[in-house]
Amino acid sequence: MPGPRPGQALVAEKEIVARVGELGREIARDYAATNLVLVGVLQGAIPFVADLMRAMALDLTIDFLRTSSYGSGTTSSGTVKLVTDLSVDIAGRDVLIVDDIVDTGHTLAALRRTLEARGPRSVRTCVLLDKTGRREADVTVDYVGFTIPNVFVVGYGLDYDGLYRNLPYVATLDGI
Ligand code: IMP
Ligand code: MG
Repeated sequence: MPGPRPGQALVAEKEIVARVGELGREIARDYAATNLVLVGVLQGAIPFVADLMRAMALDLTIDFLRTSSYGSGTTSSGTVKLVTDLSVDIAGRDVLIVDDIVDTGHTLAALRRTLEARGPRSVRTCVLLDKTGRREADVTVDYVGFTIPNVFVVGYGLDYDGLYRNLPYVATLDGI
């Protein structure tokens, strides 16, 4: 039996390009004359970080970390493990955590706590997509691309069982 496949586009490529450009300009204004480190959450944040950083006319550093994932399922466990750590020291620096989506909020809440313990000057968060209806953890998301309903999505970094991250748009998943 064939597995689930990407269905209808929920956020079109054109909308993503426009919104990421806006976000980049807004963030660049907010972080003028700071010492910014963009921290991407692997692997989902790869396209977003790549596009966002090029929309920011600013001197900045990028780095990545990896957290334990959902595995092949589509629901969060609430336990978040840091599997691969940063390679830069963030003490005294302005950190912006960039992820593809905030769902329950456990990932961003845990990452924020972990990184705040390292003495950065500031820690903020930025996501392309926000499923507000699913929040369990109390976490502030400072920059949001799009608020979406409670549906499982793939594309532009988001996967189902490791697939569909390379789609240039965000789609719902059919047959799930
Ligand atoms: P949270 O900890 O529940 O906020 O989940 C955050 C992580 O879950 C994201 O970084 C994604 O990797 C994954 N995730 C949440 N919702 C979706 C979805 O609709 N599609 C694909 N991955 C998702
Ligand atoms: Mg993720």
